[in-house]
Amino acid sequence: MSDVNMKPDRAAWLKGPPAACNLPPTTPAGRPWRLVLLGAPGAGKGTQAELLSDHLGACHLSTGDIFRAAKAASQCQPSPAMVVALDAMRRGELVSDATVLDILRERTGCLRCRGGFLLDGFPRTVAQAQTLQQLLNEQSLTLHAVISYEIPIPQIIARLSGRRTCSNCKAVFHVSARPPKVPGVCDQCGGKLVQRDDDRPQSIRVRMEAYHKSTAPLIDFYARAGLLIPISADGTPEEILQRTLTALRRLIPAAAG
Ligand code: AP5
Repeated sequence: MSDVNMKPDRAAWLKGPPAACNLPPTTPAGRPWRLVLLGAPGAGKGTQAELLSDHLGACHLSTGDIFRAAKAASQCQPSPAMVVALDAMRRGELVSDATVLDILRERTGCLRCRGGFLLDGFPRTVAQAQTLQQLLNEQSLTLHAVISYEIPIPQIIARLSGRRTCSNCKAVFHVSARPPKVPGVCDQCGGKLVQRDDDRPQSIRVRMEAYHKSTAPLIDFYARAGLLIPISADGTPEEILQRTLTALRRLIPAAAG
């Protein structure tokens, strides 16, 4: 996909029902990939999801983006459950499984997306992984692989502190590693680039603790299921993308572009 303005708008995912995507992904030439991206906060899951989406045609489904979209929607009052969720997020804690799973169940249609999906930030607990498996089974959908991005902690801190996100389309940049063409302005839509609330040092510490306690056990969970593909997240985004595509090609030759 060369024209950045043609990216799928993910409206059904970001807003939930009754919203529908104005620009859904096209059906990929090969197969629709259904992947989960795992990794510590700041490992680069969102960055890789955007690049993989361009290559594989699969839709980037980030639960963090749903919460940030709800926070940015100024025209309506967030529900009480969403207010609690946004408070937890600001502190760097996980949102409760009950809230996250309600949100996912509302968006089950996105799991059937004709482009496939790249789940980023979900599942984050074993309970979430079990529910995902149940929802996929109910719809006779197969999860093809779980990519686990691995990176040392000092690099994570550098990535998070330099991150800037588009307030409009949610595209992700880094002040030095992935700078926008014009400082503070999104290359894709011209939106304003902002720093996330939870990229403050105190929230980063809480997020890392939550990752080690609740999310890291998913590495074993998916390894036992035979789905885990560990990928080093060291290097440039393009190098990591190529590593990921090579691993996917090994899994299903000729399918990963
Ligand atoms: P979420 O939005 O999912 O955040 P996260 O998992 O903490 O991950 P990040 O978005 O911080 O990092 P990333 O790995 O995507 O890295 P990125 O590509 O941006 O969740 C936020 C919060 O929502 C959670 O804390 C929780 O409260 C709540 N939440 C969401 N889902 C939930 C769930 N399922 N259950 C419960 N709670 C949930 O990259 C980081 C930076 O590094 C960027 O600036 C990027 O440009 C740069 N970068 C990327 N790759 C490279 C590279 N190779 N070299 C140099 N720089 C790079």
